Amino acid sequence: MEEHLRLFTDEHKKGELPIAERFSPEAFVTLHLGDRLELLRQIAEAGSKAELIVTSPPYNIGKEYEETTSFVEYIAGQRETIEACLEILSPTGSICWQVGHYISGSGKNKEAYPLDLVLYPIFKSFKLRLRNRIVWHFGHGLHENYRFSGRHETILWFTRAVSHYTFNLDAVRVPQKYPGKRAFRGPRKGELSGNPLGKNPSDVWDMPNVKSNHIEKTEHPCQFPVALVERLVLALTNEGDLVVDPYIGVGTTAVASLMHNRRSAGADLEPRYLDIARERLQMAWNGTLRTRPLNKPVYQPGSNSTLTQIPEEWGKER
Ligand SMILES: C[S@@+](CC[C@H](N)C(=O)[O-])C[C@H]1O[C@@H](n2cnc3c(N)ncnc32)[C@H](O)[C@@H]1O
Repeated sequence: MEEHLRLFTDEHKKGELPIAERFSPEAFVTLHLGDRLELLRQIAEAGSKAELIVTSPPYNIGKEYEETTSFVEYIAGQRETIEACLEILSPTGSICWQVGHYISGSGKNKEAYPLDLVLYPIFKSFKLRLRNRIVWHFGHGLHENYRFSGRHETILWFTRAVSHYTFNLDAVRVPQKYPGKRAFRGPRKGELSGNPLGKNPSDVWDMPNVKSNHIEKTEHPCQFPVALVERLVLALTNEGDLVVDPYIGVGTTAVASLMHNRRSAGADLEPRYLDIARERLQMAWNGTLRTRPLNKPVYQPGSNSTLTQIPEEWGKER
């Protein structure tokens, strides 16, 4: 482990980040061009274990990188991936599956299938324990006309262990809402009641999704924000641990892991996405990658902004 961490001197960070194309226990970052099962097999054959497996799998909703298969085939493919992930999950490790909805039909014919509900029985069949169903709330997306607009996705966080699993709450605390609050009765009456290190970030995360005006936006149609993975990496792993993303896209999981001195490995079928992942990782290594800070509050325009005032035109029409 120390050998890996020795990579992280300032002198090293001026140079090129070594990125392996094939997994080996010595590699700090691996980006495998090819199927997720092949990467998972390489990790298993090397006898390595991941402390965290985190991914946002393809949704089978016809994004440019997807071949739409039948829903039944899609779920069977997910089961295969989950089973292979478990081969490499450490006994104290976590698996986090970030999903939204599979949508069939269009217009009034649209039907939503919540993927977490569909996938949950698969995880349970492997005897995993759900610790949280985290709701990721964001403000922007399609404006629907025949149903409510979708503004959340979820992350299912499972552990294999019953009680000995890695969870570093202090590493991810957020500022207290009312730091000056004091106990108003009982033996601690008058004493400050909050933890000075901050509060538990809860299971509802308000983070902007990566749309065109987000500083992390690349050409990938649905990358997740670095902060979302950072919180999981900080809470569920320790320095030097291995983080694996079987569907790594433009490398967000590897970027968040690198920023916090964790090893990472990921696979994607699309060479263009891995080229972008390499560029982002190199910038993260040299300290020039711009990411939206974890815990930065969502922007709220003030009451003086024209954005928040009812426009004159609307006033007249009312
Ligand atoms: C939802 S995206 C993940 C995006 C990623 N979280 C990011 O921030 O860039 C799913 C990715 O899975 C990749 N993919 C689809 N099938 C795959 C497979 N069989 N093996 C590996 N990657 C695959 C797609 O190319 C796509 O980039």
